[in-house]
Amino acid sequence: MAQRIAVIAGDGIGTEVMPEGVRALEAAAKRFNLDLDFHTFDFGSCDYYLKHGQMLPDDWFEQLKDFDALFYGAVGWPDTVPDHISLWGSLLQFRRQFDQYINLRPCKLMPGIKSPLAGREPGDIDFYVVRENTEGEYSSVGGKMFEGTEREVVMQETVMTRTGVDRVLKYAFDLAQTRPRKKLTSATKSNGISITMPYWDERVANMAKQYPDVAVDKFHIDILTANFVLHPDWFDVVVGSNLFGDILSDLGPACTGTIGIAPSANINPEGNFPSLFEPVHGSAPDIAGKGIANPIGQIWSGAMMLEHLGFQGSGYQDAAKAVVDAIEAVLGEGNPEVLTRDMGGQGNTKTLGNAIAERIAG
Ligand code: NAD
Ligand code: IPM
Ligand code: MN
Repeated sequence: MAQRIAVIAGDGIGTEVMPEGVRALEAAAKRFNLDLDFHTFDFGSCDYYLKHGQMLPDDWFEQLKDFDALFYGAVGWPDTVPDHISLWGSLLQFRRQFDQYINLRPCKLMPGIKSPLAGREPGDIDFYVVRENTEGEYSSVGGKMFEGTEREVVMQETVMTRTGVDRVLKYAFDLAQTRPRKKLTSATKSNGISITMPYWDERVANMAKQYPDVAVDKFHIDILTANFVLHPDWFDVVVGSNLFGDILSDLGPACTGTIGIAPSANINPEGNFPSLFEPVHGSAPDIAGKGIANPIGQIWSGAMMLEHLGFQGSGYQDAAKAVVDAIEAVLGEGNPEVLTRDMGGQGNTKTLGNAIAERIAG
């Protein structure tokens, strides 16, 4: 049966890396006999917003809800639309309305890539950030008072629900259980944020009782960021609130050489709605239009999508593995003509995308 995929490239380098993501998936589909049916949507900050005055059509939910997955590039073009308007009008709506409450973000030092951390080799950095993706610090509760006066006040509440916290913790503990080290680290700040963060810690301790085989530790977010740099080998599965997970999932990939390779899966585990797969990075206006963006974050996100879509034995798992293997093989070869500049090469988006697609084709 065909898997229907909505393709939303978005803005900036989103439109440059997306064709490479699709090319890799098409190569995998051909080799493993998968039926992928791509439908393109032009929802971005430039053309679509300028034409319609909004990021998405009024009936976007109806248009997208029956897709099997959303393959997303990046949105944001602050010169045209303020970031909070473009992102709350697009990506953050998908995460919320499609209840994609898990944001799964692998951080792995790949062969052939130099970590900015001295002496770190592949194998030293290999962990997942599991980020809460629908509530927490990203809330719409708050407002402004006395606007334009000396007494101006702005507030935005952090919202944690028991259901919201427990479901992301459960996912993270389940994931830790499948990993050889069975280790879970919780990101907290219960020394300073005195209501929501002690609550988070309490729920972690409560969930831990159901997973006696998982080793649990926790760090306040400040020292945790330091430990990502000093001891990345300590981490296996790191779970955090929406904002802490956001910060850690740029820092982790930076420790693995470049955020350009980092993928993410915004998952609705129950399958009531489509899940969304996108690179961790944004639209990178500073390099957009030059054709030099690293396409690996997009391609690897495609692999996560295949893994999500397929059941064991369906060919999708094999295809997902072939895509990641191809990324590793091309990086391992270390050909500077092929690799993009963020990895020290002189290649471009297309040379790297082509090399990976050829390798997938076998
Ligand atoms: P960014 O991730 O776009 O860029 C940060 C830095 O990393 C830039 O120097 C950029 O050139 C570099 N970079 C990013 N991706 C790269 C790649 N694939 N290859 C090589 N270099 C790469 O973050 P930013 O500058 O904070 O944000 C730019 C815009 O993107 C903003 O509008 C922001 O809101 C938006 N954004 C969107 C998403 C998303 O759609 N998921 C994620 C993050 C930021
Ligand atoms: C990410 C991005 C988004 C986030 C922005 C663009 C709203 O940084 O996916 O990590 O904060 O979640
Ligand atoms: Mn981010």
